[in-house]
Amino acid sequence: MTRTYRLLLTGLGNVGRSFLQLMISQADLLRERHGARLLLVGATDSRGAALAPEGLDPAALLAHKAAGGSVATFPGSGRPGLGGAELVRAVEAEILLEATPVNLTDGEPGLSTAMAALRRGMHAVLANKGPLALAYAELAGLSDMAEPSEERGSQKDWPALRFSACVGGAMPTINIGRRDMAGARILRAEAVLNGTTQGILRMMEEGVSYQEALAEMQRRGLAETDPTLDVEGWDAANKLVIFANAVLRQPTSLRDVAVEGITGLTAEELLAAGARGERIVLLGLAEGGEAGRPYQLSVRPTALPQNHPLARIGGDEMGIVYHTDIAGRLSVATREPDPVPTAAAMLRDVLEIASRDA
Ligand SMILES: NC(=O)c1ccc[n+]([C@@H]2O[C@H](COP(=O)([O-])OP(=O)(O)OC[C@H]3O[C@@H](n4cnc5c(N)ncnc54)[C@H](OP(=O)(O)O)[C@@H]3O)[C@@H](O)[C@H]2O)c1
Repeated sequence: MTRTYRLLLTGLGNVGRSFLQLMISQADLLRERHGARLLLVGATDSRGAALAPEGLDPAALLAHKAAGGSVATFPGSGRPGLGGAELVRAVEAEILLEATPVNLTDGEPGLSTAMAALRRGMHAVLANKGPLALAYAELAGLSDMAEPSEERGSQKDWPALRFSACVGGAMPTINIGRRDMAGARILRAEAVLNGTTQGILRMMEEGVSYQEALAEMQRRGLAETDPTLDVEGWDAANKLVIFANAVLRQPTSLRDVAVEGITGLTAEELLAAGARGERIVLLGLAEGGEAGRPYQLSVRPTALPQNHPLARIGGDEMGIVYHTDIAGRLSVATREPDPVPTAAAMLRDVLEIASRDA
């Protein structure tokens, strides 16, 4: 039996358009392996929305965007000026997919859209870190991500909130930490979570200038809409905040992270580290806190010995090392040359929700 899941997709940039491509390329696999059919009933970009209860054609939407159009002018279903939160309230759907840009001032428009969905009982899958970095507790409290309690009843009574794309793209950072480390304590976590700075640092070692390297990461669709979030360390800090809340279960905000980016680093410093047998990465670290607050959090350029798992990863990779009490030391890396694996992580979340609700 095939079950249809109606989706809303806010944001049709590098990630949103990659998700539309996956709706086309993976449709047969989803039906055969998971008995699932995905139907897009609404989408937004910066100029408005398109909505159609009978479904929007992903290929036609992609062609319309590629030709420079906006969903607001999509023939027959465009609604100029309609935002994500209004779309969520206007259309019946099972799952919201949120992929608008990170906004660390107030989280908008993603925060209102995600809140509106969860308040309506709609599941939410986020690629946008901003709402989670600014309002993790509020979002979790409206969803199955809150810690269980008698008053809340069964977790299944709450809409699902998933965000595995937010912390390392297709690298299952959150899933490993929450599911596969069950029963273990994470004593220390080290991570390279920002692909843009990893790419820039490795290119600078090869003689490419900082500006050229940043432009290349933007060309690949991997940089943030506002790339200062990458190079000044805030994207990695956002991910660490989400990781600390969701996996380490330490209530954390951006204020709790010591942040330093890569803009002060020179090619000479990178090469000098290499000559010493070290490699500089933008390292996110959770370790050594105090009673009641077991983790101190930081993001800063750090020289690692060249045999460290995170010193060995390449310019289009991210990675994490979990040091645990009973599950050993687990290292994971992901190679992501474009935004497709991030869209694949959103698809993974959609399928997890589908199996939860089956
Ligand atoms: N790129 C990656 O590899 C990657 C990886 C993990 C997570 N993410 C996250 O995924 C999200 C999207 O990234 P992206 O690379 O796809 O960004 P992007 O290419 O800049 O696309 C952003 C999309 O959001 C729309 N948008 C911009 N401002 C808006 C507003 N105020 N209201 C409604 N829509 C708005 C844009 O509209 P127009 O089409 O009209 O410009 C565009 O469709 C970000 O939160 C990012 O942090 C990205």
